Amino acid sequence: MATSFTSMDTSIAEQWAVIGAETAKNQGRVAERVLDLLRSLADIVDGFATDQLTHCLQTATRAERDGADDEVVVASLCHDIGKAISVPNHPAIAAEILKPYVRPEVYDMIRVHQDFQGRHYYAHFGGDPDAREKHRATLAPEVFDLAARFADDWDQTAFDPDYDTLPLEHFEDRVRKVFGAANLVPG
Ligand SMILES: [Fe+2]
Repeated sequence: MATSFTSMDTSIAEQWAVIGAETAKNQGRVAERVLDLLRSLADIVDGFATDQLTHCLQTATRAERDGADDEVVVASLCHDIGKAISVPNHPAIAAEILKPYVRPEVYDMIRVHQDFQGRHYYAHFGGDPDAREKHRATLAPEVFDLAARFADDWDQTAFDPDYDTLPLEHFEDRVRKVFGAANLVPG
């Protein structure tokens, strides 16, 4: 169906209207791709006591049980989704996947999560356990506290194979809700 342009410099507005409508119609694809990526984390263990899907599910379970809202729970579920592609830059990958769908402080919570986690393990690599402090000047105090709560209470504790971890099915409806519509940022 070559009804659209073959190079952008020959495109017309009507073609872009079709693309916009089709893209909006297919928005549901985003949540399904996210769920597929999460499922793929079951194959990644890399020496931890749990696979990475279990770790993500356990992080989200802990957040939910602490009363976190839906965006925070879904972000907690997705915080290590970047590991499905590349471990060294996984926080940035996860944060950018989430960015259009969550409020800015939830995006920040994921973007900085490795530096906040450092409190609990960077010393083993000769790193700075207080790496989180470099974010204190740029994050609002309540965002800093949210990132600390995420790392200290939910993420760094979520490697327990014996914990009562909730299954992915428990979170699927909220994944579809959060990724169901992008936040349109004016300007
Ligand atoms: Fe994690």
